[in-house]
Amino acid sequence: MAGDLRHRRAGGADAGEEEGDGGAEAAAKAKAGPPSGGEGAEAAGPGRKEALGWLEWSRGWMGVVGEFFFQRIAASHLANPLELPPLDGVSIIVTGATSGIGLEIARQLAQAGAHLVMAVRRPKVARELIQKWQNEQTEVSMPLNIEVMELDLISLDSVARFADTWNARMAPLHVLINNAGIFTIGEPQRFTKDGYEEHMQVNHLAPALLAMLLLPSLIRGSPSRIINVNSVVSF
Ligand SMILES: NC(=O)c1ccc[n+]([C@@H]2O[C@H](COP(=O)([O-])OP(=O)(O)OC[C@H]3O[C@@H](n4cnc5c(N)ncnc54)[C@H](OP(=O)(O)O)[C@@H]3O)[C@@H](O)[C@H]2O)c1
Repeated sequence: MAGDLRHRRAGGADAGEEEGDGGAEAAAKAKAGPPSGGEGAEAAGPGRKEALGWLEWSRGWMGVVGEFFFQRIAASHLANPLELPPLDGVSIIVTGATSGIGLEIARQLAQAGAHLVMAVRRPKVARELIQKWQNEQTEVSMPLNIEVMELDLISLDSVARFADTWNARMAPLHVLINNAGIFTIGEPQRFTKDGYEEHMQVNHLAPALLAMLLLPSLIRGSPSRIINVNSVVSF
């Protein structure tokens, strides 16, 4: 992939892409919320609740159990850490890069030379991590090329602000890794200020909006990639 990306970058930016305030417009549409009623609701019929059938439930749970018991075996042939090619000049945004999977992805990509953007809700923590990673570098290795940008997926305004700031650079974006996510269980259901259930917004709507709003930059970095980190539980 990296070879691909570098090859296309050398070829220059794609022509004919549209710029402008598409960000604000898409965010406004997203904030307007789902249509009330409409075809979907009518198809379900009055009083009828759409739900998963037993087959979907069984498939889903089999997937979860399979992942739980066999994930390590299925991945045992992979090197850890994965060997990455030099990623110099490749711009990558990783959301939720301050802990868990996102932190490890971010660290390894930055150490491979990528221009890494940590899109996080806790910038201070991200800066501390960068300092730590810099200190771990040997004397001969290049300084890490990492920047921190604030992004809180619980607010669609924050998503739009992030995308507008990035797009204003008129620079290519080669990879967007939508990693940030939440999974709370046994707590009361909560809704965001935008009016969506929290899991639905943080795990699905906001990352999708982010990807849409960043399209001008992704097109500029073509052939670019959007990677969504998800769960088998999201069936
Ligand atoms: N670990 C697993 O076994 C597993 C399984 C299936 C799917 N996943 C998916 O993999 C992804 C990473 O999981 P993980 O285990 O690494 O989780 P994690 O350790 O809890 O990390 C989640 C990251 O998302 C960030 N985040 C949460 N809410 C956010 C918000 N409103 N705005 C911006 N960032 C936010 C967190 O920021 P803070 O650092 O500030 O808290 C954190 O950096 C998630 O999407 C998760 O659903 C994980």
